Amino acid sequence: MTEQIFIVGGEVEPPYFIGRDEEVNMIKLDLLSSAQNNVIIGPRRIGKTSLLRNLKNNVQEKVIFAYVNCRKITSLADFFRQTTGSLITAYEEKHKIKGIVKKFSDVFKGKITAATRSISEIGGSIEYIGNVYLRFRENEIDEKELISETFEFIENLSKELNEPIIIALDEFQELSKFNGNIFNMLKSHMDSQPNVRYIFSGSSVSLLHDVFLKPDSPLYLMAARIQLEPIKKKDVDDYISSRLKTQNITISEPALDLIYEYTAGYPFYFQKIGFLLYQIAVIGKKKHIGIDDVENVFSSMLDEFDSEFESRYSTKFSRQQQHILKYLSQYKTRRLTEISDDMQTPASSLTTSMRDLYNTMAVDKPKEGTYGIMDNVFRLWIKKNILGDIN
Ligand SMILES: Nc1ncnc2c1ncn2[C@@H]1O[C@H](COP(=O)(O)OP(=O)(O)OP(=O)(O)O)[C@@H](O)[C@H]1O
Ligand SMILES: [Mg+2]
Repeated sequence: MTEQIFIVGGEVEPPYFIGRDEEVNMIKLDLLSSAQNNVIIGPRRIGKTSLLRNLKNNVQEKVIFAYVNCRKITSLADFFRQTTGSLITAYEEKHKIKGIVKKFSDVFKGKITAATRSISEIGGSIEYIGNVYLRFRENEIDEKELISETFEFIENLSKELNEPIIIALDEFQELSKFNGNIFNMLKSHMDSQPNVRYIFSGSSVSLLHDVFLKPDSPLYLMAARIQLEPIKKKDVDDYISSRLKTQNITISEPALDLIYEYTAGYPFYFQKIGFLLYQIAVIGKKKHIGIDDVENVFSSMLDEFDSEFESRYSTKFSRQQQHILKYLSQYKTRRLTEISDDMQTPASSLTTSMRDLYNTMAVDKPKEGTYGIMDNVFRLWIKKNILGDIN
């Protein structure tokens, strides 16, 4: 297989994963010293899942690291299935023992007697938790007990193996739909499990506040916050030029500046632009990339994301939020008073919408009273397609 030049979408690892040394080292230290739990917060496409994957690679010699994507969790029983499944998979991978995952998966399907036999071959706390699920299948226990048992299981497995366990809950905000059922239990177990650490990751500022920072919330101050920022310009420049160089393609400084200007260091977008540039270089047999090429591929990228942005804009935001985004799209940042002047509405009537936009990380607040659309590519798309500004 030929080497990939850029990777767009999915989790990336080195050499495609760049600019996160500080975060990796900081969280790694917390994890290995079992010092504290972490919550990683960042907007869509900033690289949260990739960061978790690289953390896993960095610490899995010393701990069992289980990754759970909370987007896949639609019921409390799902929480059980995803978490135990992922933990047992991580255990099997790390200890290089075959067949446990397969045997355990029998509890989720088929005959109870066959499942009982399969898990008895595993034994220990995995057999125990398998039997818990079988009792759930027979309606002997309810979903809430299943959740409580999940946390007990994590703790018991860690003790049994005498190894720390890390549970990474990606898209953590998805769990809020269970009305605190999971959060409350998580809290009581986090207190009592020194050998188990949690990493939460998500893109909702309000959730972070509700769950971790409000005094009456179950997880109040239980995790150290790490805000994921865009990748720094120097790292992006080095990455793009060195990736292109592997194919003997060069790129001008102004072209690199323009890429950063457009993407604002959002990894998904600079990977995409890099890939499109590589493509046109190959097709046009070009050995040098200039500013015009960046302009061209950026414009095709906007077209390519048209339907996605269109649906994001029309379904994720209220009418008033859409208006705010439209007016905001002309500027990188704008004061609230200026926005309300632009919209000819009193600033006070915008506060609720503004807060929601901020809470869902659609809008950033670089200074008190000043706002800007977080995702610069989305901003430029709104500017071009909704505002109708061709400049
Ligand atoms: N550190 C990084 N260095 C280079 N590229 C990265 C990095 N992190 C992410 N990317 C790029 O961004 C893409 C999206 O990354 P990832 O899925 O990790 O982001 P995310 O924040 O989890 O996104 P989502 O909100 O969609 O879940 C990756 O496929 C990759 O192209
Ligand atoms: Mg993700």
